[in-house]
Amino acid sequence: MATRWGICSAGKISHDFTVALRTLAPENHKIVAVAARDLKHAEEFAKKHNIPRVYGSYDELAKDPDIDVVYIGTIHPYHLATGKLFMKSKKNVLIEKPLAMNLREVQELISAAQDNSVFLMEAIWTRFFPVTVELRRLLEQGEVGDVQMVRADLGAPLTHIPRLAERKLGGGALLDLGIYCLQFIFTVFNGERPESIQATGHCIDTGVDGTAVLVLKFSGNRLAICTCSITMMLTCDAVITGTKGTIKIPDHMWCPTSLEVNGKEMQFPLPEASMPLNFTNSTGLRYEAEEVRQCLLKGLKESPGMPWAHSSLIAEVLDEARRQLGVTYEQDNIQ
Ligand SMILES: NC(=O)c1ccc[n+]([C@@H]2O[C@H](COP(=O)([O-])OP(=O)(O)OC[C@H]3O[C@@H](n4cnc5c(N)ncnc54)[C@H](OP(=O)(O)O)[C@@H]3O)[C@@H](O)[C@H]2O)c1
Repeated sequence: MATRWGICSAGKISHDFTVALRTLAPENHKIVAVAARDLKHAEEFAKKHNIPRVYGSYDELAKDPDIDVVYIGTIHPYHLATGKLFMKSKKNVLIEKPLAMNLREVQELISAAQDNSVFLMEAIWTRFFPVTVELRRLLEQGEVGDVQMVRADLGAPLTHIPRLAERKLGGGALLDLGIYCLQFIFTVFNGERPESIQATGHCIDTGVDGTAVLVLKFSGNRLAICTCSITMMLTCDAVITGTKGTIKIPDHMWCPTSLEVNGKEMQFPLPEASMPLNFTNSTGLRYEAEEVRQCLLKGLKESPGMPWAHSSLIAEVLDEARRQLGVTYEQDNIQ
């Protein structure tokens, strides 16, 4: 039976996710409905993507009985409220990254999933790319020996985009881009808690972090460096240094299609998109969608590839880095 998807919000990433869903077998993934705050906006989206049911509010989508899972593509400050709304209506949810604005909100979402006995996953799509599957295999096989150092960089000049620059809209490099570097580090170190976190960087006029550099120290003198920026173009790659060699993920480390292990390159091409996309390599969103289907078929409430513990750990590190940089959101003042 097909997994029946509802799409919450008709913005840029919802467009790309919908296109990516259509690269999967229609007998496995069916898009049933879309909702946006403005009915006209939702209708335009539905027409473009040939989606049968349309709602002008998220509440109506939550009441639709024929939906298995809702993809939440709203901007970060609305992830908590929309996530809770759908979970209370017993809908499984895939929520865009970051799962929420801070650790307190992440914990609230996890509690809502537990209370309502539904599936919840943070949409860290990178985790389900074939490159990441191969990376995990290489690490487990000890292809580069014991990992000593991880470096991950992601940045581009993006301060002209309101949701990235405005504090009220959840702006800042850490929450939008640094999260990809951290999730990579925690993939390699298997969700291990760092012994220490040191953050430095600078803020832009709006008070959110423009550039941040984090140094994480793990047990046994293992280190990780994460650099993220919305003010400058970075190399957007990642390197793992082990006692026996090196793995490199070239540019597009957040949506990778190639990997180099001890100088040998491997390619993992993505399927073509049926219409123009807003973001790089977005047909790769198909892998997280398939992960959700597989988890639902198995009756799981969380994904082994992106478990709640990893979402909590990432949020905890992001909170600590923001504390050191002096970046706060209104959500941080709620107890
Ligand atoms: N996985 C990825 O590669 C990837 C890429 C880009 C973004 N993202 C994540 O996806 C989320 C959305 O990013 P986006 O670029 O798609 O954003 P966007 O197009 O600017 O906005 C997405 C939706 O959020 C709602 N929204 C926007 N501004 C709002 C406001 N001021 N008040 C209330 N709701 C508002 C709207 O929903 P309605 O349509 O209902 O009005 C809008 O369509 C972010 O959390 C981001 O981190 C992920």
